[in-house]
Amino acid sequence: MFDLTFTPGPSKICPEVKKDITNAIDTKILEISHRSPEFCSISQLAVENLKTFLKIPRHWHVLFLGSAIEAMELAIRSTVKETSFHFTNGNFSEYFIKLAKDLHKKPLYQKAVWGTKNDYTEDVPNEAELITITQCESSTGCMVSPEDIKNIRKKYPEKFIAVDATSIMGVIDIDIKQADIWLWSVQKCFGLPAGLGIMVVNQKVWEKSRDLHQQGINPIGAFGIEKNVNKMLKNYNTIATPNVLNIYLLGQQTQRFIDKGGLPTMEKETRIKIAKIYELLDSLPNITTFIKNRNDSSISLVCAKSDEATVAKIHQVCKENNIHMGTGYGKLKPTTFRICNFPAITIEDIKLLSSVLKKAFHIK
Ligand SMILES: Cc1ncc(COP(=O)(O)O)c(C=O)c1O
Repeated sequence: MFDLTFTPGPSKICPEVKKDITNAIDTKILEISHRSPEFCSISQLAVENLKTFLKIPRHWHVLFLGSAIEAMELAIRSTVKETSFHFTNGNFSEYFIKLAKDLHKKPLYQKAVWGTKNDYTEDVPNEAELITITQCESSTGCMVSPEDIKNIRKKYPEKFIAVDATSIMGVIDIDIKQADIWLWSVQKCFGLPAGLGIMVVNQKVWEKSRDLHQQGINPIGAFGIEKNVNKMLKNYNTIATPNVLNIYLLGQQTQRFIDKGGLPTMEKETRIKIAKIYELLDSLPNITTFIKNRNDSSISLVCAKSDEATVAKIHQVCKENNIHMGTGYGKLKPTTFRICNFPAITIEDIKLLSSVLKKAFHIK
């Protein structure tokens, strides 16, 4: 086992969360019924805190799912009759295309070369009902700015927009009204254990999902936006037995995020830390960021690029010091490594990594 991990998910758990986990065990929260009034209060707190933290309009819906991938699939199933459109620049954004195909939709897309960002000014075909954007492409570290999302919204007010914000939600000051669907999971910037996906949708999504279902286009099965929403509206319940622990932890964690100043403070702290990570990378020989233009590189996750020998050395040195460095993703594995900059990662963690790597590369 390692003492410190920089992997981008599951990632380092915030120390305060460890206390919450102990408390959940001690107070029997893990043994309550998911239909009990106690659970309703826990779920309600998590929903209300999320709405405050992310400035989600009161009438929008927060849904608790199993993972971000489940939410990606639900986004397509709930809004697309025939055609979807996907901006892609890495593994996760491309996964939307696969999901759409699997659901027998017609996915159109604009694929950017990995390491560069998409051209969001290019026209999206008329027939596309849904546009997907991956705000932080975790395989390459590419980030879509809130400004880009705002411009897409402005250009296509009638289309559905879904943002996969898995690796960045919670550390960038977004305007949630600029998309219809936001989805992510909590093992990244929320510093919680894996196993809880969150989906935030507006009423328009609920209505489209209902229409597609009533027209017999998308069978609903056990799960679906309307069923999820209805359960939530009734008493903050979920369809299946949920991850009660994580929902409890989410309520506590979002309270701390709100208390420290909300999204602007989270973003400010994240930017201070990412500058330190860049400082470190710039001091090391033969290492660059995979994203060519640093303005397009995520503030929450850096994908660093080098030759195979240097990447292997980075992993080896980290391992010898009980640090778990994030490996590159998929085909990028041999020549990249990834450092997450989620809220659980502290300045002290970055200093430790810095001293270990600088010593190994003989940098003063
Ligand atoms: C951008 C992005 N989308 C989706 C996922 C899938 O998340 P989950 O495993 O919680 O379904 C990940 C996981 O790393 C991700 O980084």
